[in-house]
Amino acid sequence: MTENIAEAVRRAKELRDELNHHNHLYHVMDAPQITDVEYDALYRELEEVEARFPQLVTPDSPTLRVGAPPLSQFEQTAHVLPMLGLENAVSPDELREFDRRVKKFLGVEGEVNYACEPKLDGLAVELVYEEGLLVIGSTRGDGRTGELVTENLRTIKSIPLALGGTPPRLLEVRGEVTMLTEDFRELNRVQLERGLPPFANPRNGSAGAVRQLDSRITAGRKLSFFAYGVGRREGVEFDTQAETMDGLKKFGFMVRTERKVLNGIEKVVGYCLDIENWREKFPLEIDGCVVKVDDLGLQRRLGEKARSPRWAIAYKFKPMQALTRVRDISASLGRTGKVTPVAELEPVSVGGVIVSRATLHNMDEVRRKDVRVGDTVIVQRAGDVIPEVVRPLTEKRSGEEEVFTMPTSCPRCGGEVVRLEGESAHRCVNASCPAKLTGRLKHFVSRRAMDIDGMGEKLIEQLVDKEIVKEIGGLFTLDLDTLVSLERMAQKSAENLLVAIEAVKGRTLARFIFALGIRQVGETTAVAIVERFDSLDKLAKAELEELLEVEDVGPEVAGAVVEYFSDGENRAMLARMREMGVNPVAEKRDIANMPLKGETVVLTGKLETLTRDEAKSRLIRLGAKVASSVSAKTSWVVVGSDAGSKSKKAAELSVEVVDEKKLIERLEAAERSSAEAARPEAAAKKMQPKLF
Ligand code: IVH
Repeated sequence: MTENIAEAVRRAKELRDELNHHNHLYHVMDAPQITDVEYDALYRELEEVEARFPQLVTPDSPTLRVGAPPLSQFEQTAHVLPMLGLENAVSPDELREFDRRVKKFLGVEGEVNYACEPKLDGLAVELVYEEGLLVIGSTRGDGRTGELVTENLRTIKSIPLALGGTPPRLLEVRGEVTMLTEDFRELNRVQLERGLPPFANPRNGSAGAVRQLDSRITAGRKLSFFAYGVGRREGVEFDTQAETMDGLKKFGFMVRTERKVLNGIEKVVGYCLDIENWREKFPLEIDGCVVKVDDLGLQRRLGEKARSPRWAIAYKFKPMQALTRVRDISASLGRTGKVTPVAELEPVSVGGVIVSRATLHNMDEVRRKDVRVGDTVIVQRAGDVIPEVVRPLTEKRSGEEEVFTMPTSCPRCGGEVVRLEGESAHRCVNASCPAKLTGRLKHFVSRRAMDIDGMGEKLIEQLVDKEIVKEIGGLFTLDLDTLVSLERMAQKSAENLLVAIEAVKGRTLARFIFALGIRQVGETTAVAIVERFDSLDKLAKAELEELLEVEDVGPEVAGAVVEYFSDGENRAMLARMREMGVNPVAEKRDIANMPLKGETVVLTGKLETLTRDEAKSRLIRLGAKVASSVSAKTSWVVVGSDAGSKSKKAAELSVEVVDEKKLIERLEAAERSSAEAARPEAAAKKMQPKLF
């Protein structure tokens, strides 16, 4: 820190310009170029310079502002009560410091009650309700004036258009528009599929969606709104923050359930550290906790400073971003032959998890980000556990960095790697590429597919490398001698494996079709197909039009099925499998007697005991349909530990909502009843793992 005034003048100006520039990129363009950590460091430095030389505080100093001016293309609207920002605490000690300031200001000795909430990382908005009706919706903008985005906000399902209960004359509701991680992941998947750049984080995804001139774009993005406070109100009064939140809930808003009122700062510190530890279990991005003096009377006495209130503080979590170096960029091969560039990184801790690889998605992304071998890069884990390279720090380049080029031949089989028309991905086009075969085999034997006990990844890799298995069907030609000749394969395990392989020959047709790995054909589709085509022969001969008659089968799926069965090699392989006794049977899904027949179930939120895939498979096998969104046709919704809009939708439509415990009870009861209904000899076989 400089003591020299001339130097301070120069630095303050530099920091102001830089911060204003980044503010604009962040708030107006929704396209930040530096990380929050870098921004905070600059911001803190400017605060320090200004604290030392208060005469240097200019009226346009970013430290006096809350956000950024609104975009000019939107009509503007004033917030009658300004929407303030929050001061940050980056350590427990800074929280304790805040508590001391609060007590000193109020002149109290005893402990203060604090309302603690997770800090949602999205876009702050204000909703004005008059006589219970939503009349204005706006962004925070610079805190005093925001953009009028009422129509866009109306498309968000968790924003009530009319308040529930007994609405007051006037209520201004404040909260955050965000995306659930699940919805964000899907958004980026689609972005990449369309060859568009992915969003850096859910916050940019939501902010971009709300600030669209065409509200259909907003409607197309799955946004959620969580309320956390109120502005003006007439005809309703609250005494505490906790009461405010309860009231908001009654009016029909979603509020986070993790909120707590705690007495004394030490309990608050414990809460913040706990939430930080659970952070990744949350269904949406949170970047800290907000700690508010609970009593609104005390809040009024504390009042506010220029840009933030004295009665609240944000405890910021460890950043989910870090700096590291790209050691190499490799080409990674997937099941479908897709070749993905992957940054091999110097291992670094990002929010407590060691990261050493990060996907670069495809060549368009590598070029757009201009990531080179040897670059220092920002890596982040956002909205997803999969780490990502945000951007290289080009100013740190030495000139030695190397530009990555996609190999023209497959790293595994030497086959040609091409970028097909209309795709953003490069693929190995050799149909018999061992990497593809490995991927197909892994899928074929996996739990939800053929479920071959004891057939692990390492074993599959050996079988493919040694060219023992050249197609999926090759698994059924394995013998004891071959298996025991493999590494780490004892006689006993080899025998068990053969028993397991034999046992799957009569798996149901639906599982078999799913296991083949036909593009677009998931478990639910496989079950639906079998309802219409009850043998492999019939399916192999099916015409496009017939397939289209199957419920939920569209042109893409139908096309993929026809393509699969018209391929000579696939047909020959299926014939060979049949000769080896693989005889998938259309489960006489005695539809009438399937315990969950006719029920449409939606799974939402995070399950603790079951994985989502497992829950889905079991439901389907018991006759239920698993849908992705709640509608009037939904029979019941399973709500995991934390669920968003779907559970609300269920409530709106009066659809039954159950928790995971109840789901497991239902699955077990249904499984018992279907086992009893099954033939006694089949039931006996099930009990006895050895078949010969
Ligand atoms: S209270 C004056 N509560 O954090 C109090 N803010 O810097 C202002 N935020 O963009 C806000 N979760 O939108 C509050 N539970 C929460 C919050 C929260 C996220 C955002 C807010 C603003 C920023 C404050």
